[in-house]
Amino acid sequence: TSPRTPLIAGNWKMHGRLTMARELASAVAHGAPAGIDVLLCPPFPYLAPVAVTLQGSHVHLGAQNLATEAEGAYTGEVSGDMLADLQCGYVLVGHSERRTLYGETDDVVAAKFQRAQAAGLTPVLCIGETLAEREAGDTETVIARQLDAVLAQVGVEALQQAVLAYEPVWAIGTGLTATPAQAQAVHRFIRARIEARDGQIAASLRILYGGSVKADNAASLLAETDIDGGLIGGASLDADSFLAICQAA
Ligand code: G3P
Repeated sequence: TSPRTPLIAGNWKMHGRLTMARELASAVAHGAPAGIDVLLCPPFPYLAPVAVTLQGSHVHLGAQNLATEAEGAYTGEVSGDMLADLQCGYVLVGHSERRTLYGETDDVVAAKFQRAQAAGLTPVLCIGETLAEREAGDTETVIARQLDAVLAQVGVEALQQAVLAYEPVWAIGTGLTATPAQAQAVHRFIRARIEARDGQIAASLRILYGGSVKADNAASLLAETDIDGGLIGGASLDADSFLAICQAA
């Protein structure tokens, strides 16, 4: 038994419309099992209405991104403080889609991580290798680089107020899930790397797995020692599937 409370997070990405956002949030609010943490990350415009829907439930609200700057003339950006105003407790940082499609470097990701914490938000730091990197045998090198870039900026203590998510890029939205053993091996590598700096922080840090998690593969992934929850994309858009994954935790 793990000392860590499981966390199941839904990343809706740029999906859905307002009515769907309200209905999905309402279904999750009513169906989320006790004893685990559940988090929903809707698109920016739906944070406020979803916050209203989630009121009185124990489901947490998070955003998918935030600005590197605190405030100012940054057209189109959204600050961490603004997210905190909307009842967000969490924010995703460094999702592979941000890294690959929007050019977020390790340094940008580290800056966002720091900005999130400065606003009182818990960052969910996403790291993961591409298929080419895995096939070249570079998985651990890439994971270490992505992790160390943030640790160099904020120090290991900052992980006391953070969550990690391992998302192999080749498993995102592809239907190709990492096997429980493949995922566990990387989770163990990540935790060991943090253990080397601080054993207590490593023991309490939640490391989520993301990448084609579905109702039927969730239990076997979550059974692994170092997998403390899931970051769910596609399956989080369907209340029954998402709640089934929550039940598996
Ligand atoms: O952030 C969650 C994600 O990238 C995984 O997406 O659709 O493979 O569950 P999906």
